[in-house]
Amino acid sequence: MNGKEFVTQLAAKHYPDLEGPVLALRRALAELDPATPQFVELMQRQAKKELRHGVAFTKALLQYDGLEHHERAEIAEQAAEEYHHFALIKDYLNSRGSDVQIDPAGAFDAYFDRFLAGDIAVFRLCNIAEKSAVVFQAHLRDATPDAAVRKLCEDILADEEEHGDYMAEKLAGMAENEETRPFLEEQFVLSWSSQKQGVLAEAQALGIDVERVLSAAGFSA
Ligand SMILES: [Fe+2]
Ligand SMILES: [Fe+2]
Repeated sequence: MNGKEFVTQLAAKHYPDLEGPVLALRRALAELDPATPQFVELMQRQAKKELRHGVAFTKALLQYDGLEHHERAEIAEQAAEEYHHFALIKDYLNSRGSDVQIDPAGAFDAYFDRFLAGDIAVFRLCNIAEKSAVVFQAHLRDATPDAAVRKLCEDILADEEEHGDYMAEKLAGMAENEETRPFLEEQFVLSWSSQKQGVLAEAQALGIDVERVLSAAGFSA
């Protein structure tokens, strides 16, 4: 089994428990009516995620001396893109007479803190679950009746697809070395599990019928 095959079977193995339910809930969130306060809150939460992501990557640049030159360039580029996504969503919220609300306690810091705890190998895999961002943005673009939301998604999606592709390539490359596979699987499960916790809480907070969405998609919570 080569690296790419390993990654494919890894994703398939955990799809029913992790990736599948996360994607089903993120699709349900993307289908919230843009006219509702819940949708505005969804965008506020998304803005926070983008900002925390940009901050985490900036911190990583400052704290990890062991990064290769090409990695530093890629991390800097992605940090700038995540800040840009934050700004785009802020503009959208402003256009609706709303705004982002940044809580100083940092609701999403815990998710990123694990990647900044000191193990550079863990940091290198921190976008392992970034695929859910691509699925969310793509579904929102396709499902929304709101032209401004569609434009917002199109502006964000090109970057997110690149982030997703970059990670998939990196993972397949690392998985060529069979000794790294248990570590890759451990990080895969940790990242998707913490995403699942986050999206379950988010869906519940925004009034999604979690049980119904999951069972309709053939999963359980
Ligand atoms: Fe982003
Ligand atoms: Fe991203």
